[in-house]
Amino acid sequence: MATPTLDKTDGTAKPEAGFADSPFITATFRIRRFNPEVSDEVQWQDFQIEIDPKERVLDALHKIKWELDGTLTFRRSCAHGICGSDAMRINGKNRLACKTLIKDINPEKPIMVEAIKGLTVLKDLVVDMDPFFQAYHDVMPFLITKGNEPTRERLQSPEDRERFDDTTKCILCAACTSSCPVFWNDGQYFGPAAIVNAHRFIFDSRDEAGEQRLEILNDRDGVWRCRTTFNCTDACPRGIEVTKAIQEVKRALITRRF
Ligand code: SF4
Ligand code: F3S
Ligand code: FES
Repeated sequence: MATPTLDKTDGTAKPEAGFADSPFITATFRIRRFNPEVSDEVQWQDFQIEIDPKERVLDALHKIKWELDGTLTFRRSCAHGICGSDAMRINGKNRLACKTLIKDINPEKPIMVEAIKGLTVLKDLVVDMDPFFQAYHDVMPFLITKGNEPTRERLQSPEDRERFDDTTKCILCAACTSSCPVFWNDGQYFGPAAIVNAHRFIFDSRDEAGEQRLEILNDRDGVWRCRTTFNCTDACPRGIEVTKAIQEVKRALITRRF
């Protein structure tokens, strides 16, 4: 495929003439393209752009889409690491495009960008998230109590709140699940994100459905499929100790104490 280029010296965002300390560099983004409406073939396409390396990969993708190829397809919403919609593989590692600075990923070489693994690619960088959200749905990610409607807020000690603090930070980006080799091998495994979200309620002292959630994760496709490879912890853009949370759920299944 031809290499479209965007020369910023010809564009509207032109650096000032004679500005010797221009922050712009020429970076090549090598993007894995797939459009089932055009071809069943996957192909890598290079785009060269001039960009400030302090900008983020998401900024580069916007520049490519808006100025070079409007057909490039990817998800994003908040652009600030909150919505979890722009997880992708960047130089072989799962990251959020909006949290990845170009200067941190060696822009002297082509920057490889592709869809996350283990989920069906629908187009370019967009995958089918349905199996991921089905597993999330299956662990009942909401507070469950049995008929004791409170007349005021449900109290919880700071210590009890601390037990699941880490797992409340999940933004459902799927970077963990789609970095897990067990999930790649067969998409049946619940995956680390679903377990993290089960953990968030299992260890919540106000919740009364911990046993039910543990039984769901005791399934053959549940928590025992985890081989403690830590890819999920490495991939999590929120710094959640995903593997530790999975271990805590395994321990709760054995001891029935949570
Ligand atoms: Fe994303 Fe981390 Fe949540 Fe996994 S645990 S979905 S990597 S935020
Ligand atoms: Fe997979 Fe994480 Fe376990 S990468 S094998 S869920 S530790
Ligand atoms: Fe929302 Fe990146 S666009 S997390």
